[in-house]
Amino acid sequence: MKAYTLITGASQGLGKSIALEFAKRNMNLVLVALPKSGLPELSKFIKENMYVEVHYIEIDLSTVDSCYAISEYITTHNLPIKNLVNNAGVLSRGLFDNLDEAFILKQIAVNVTTPTLLIKLLLNNMKSVAPASILNISSMASFFALPKKQVYGATKAYLTSFSKSLRKELKTTNISVTTICPGGLNTTTRLCYQNRIVSWVTRKTVLNPEDASKIAIEAMLRKQRLIVPGFVNKCLMILDKLLPEFIKDKLAEKELNKFPKAA
Ligand SMILES: NC(=O)c1ccc[n+]([C@@H]2O[C@H](COP(=O)([O-])OP(=O)(O)OC[C@H]3O[C@@H](n4cnc5c(N)ncnc54)[C@H](OP(=O)(O)O)[C@@H]3O)[C@@H](O)[C@H]2O)c1
Repeated sequence: MKAYTLITGASQGLGKSIALEFAKRNMNLVLVALPKSGLPELSKFIKENMYVEVHYIEIDLSTVDSCYAISEYITTHNLPIKNLVNNAGVLSRGLFDNLDEAFILKQIAVNVTTPTLLIKLLLNNMKSVAPASILNISSMASFFALPKKQVYGATKAYLTSFSKSLRKELKTTNISVTTICPGGLNTTTRLCYQNRIVSWVTRKTVLNPEDASKIAIEAMLRKQRLIVPGFVNKCLMILDKLLPEFIKDKLAEKELNKFPKAA
């Protein structure tokens, strides 16, 4: 029986790197992203060059209906899902006061509702092919109180917490749940720019999606619980526990003031 890895947000950035990395490891894929994001071309490229089967679903993951539509597609095409990667995410965009309500709701839907519901709807399928794995892409922002990342950080805190609890529950079903919490990633053009103008320490926290995808997949295959990739990031996690709040506030302010207005 052919097994598949389903990856949300696979059209670009980390999700695309994860898709290519799984294909290199001979895994068949189901790729999900918004319409007109180059998914048909990416799927064709992977099929023709990496000799794995690829299905793609172009859909807006900010609606609850999208999860039911994906689940229906999987059932109709009889695709056993061995690995589920919840990667699609809406990144942060600035001060809470300046964000419009529609953006906030979309961020919560894509980052919180969709991964939760997708796991729920695909769980029986995954149980039937267990051992199986879930990889949830969270963020270091899930641990810190960061201005300009308020809703984003909170959505990722949800994902990290949800994943840790779910992992305990699913142990008996032989489905592992791994959470990866990257610092910065050089994915979008804006982030590549931002990541160049921050301090030396912050620059050292940034990974390329190609490296992050390898680390994430290896952690998932080793059934690790939670991983913060990168040496400096691991040090920052320890430092965060030691530093008093007022120093952390000063550091965050200094870094964030360097970003362009739209960041
Ligand atoms: N970049 C960072 O610095 C960073 C750091 C830590 C964690 N992360 C996490 O890593 C994950 C990937 O981030 P990234 O930097 O690779 O982001 P990205 O380049 O913006 O890619 C996000 C992916 O999610 C998809 N997506 C977003 N909204 C969607 C929607 N409504 N419906 C369907 N697909 C949607 C995008 O599809 P389209 O191409 O169709 O828009 C794209 O494939 C996210 O969960 C993010 O929170 C990122």
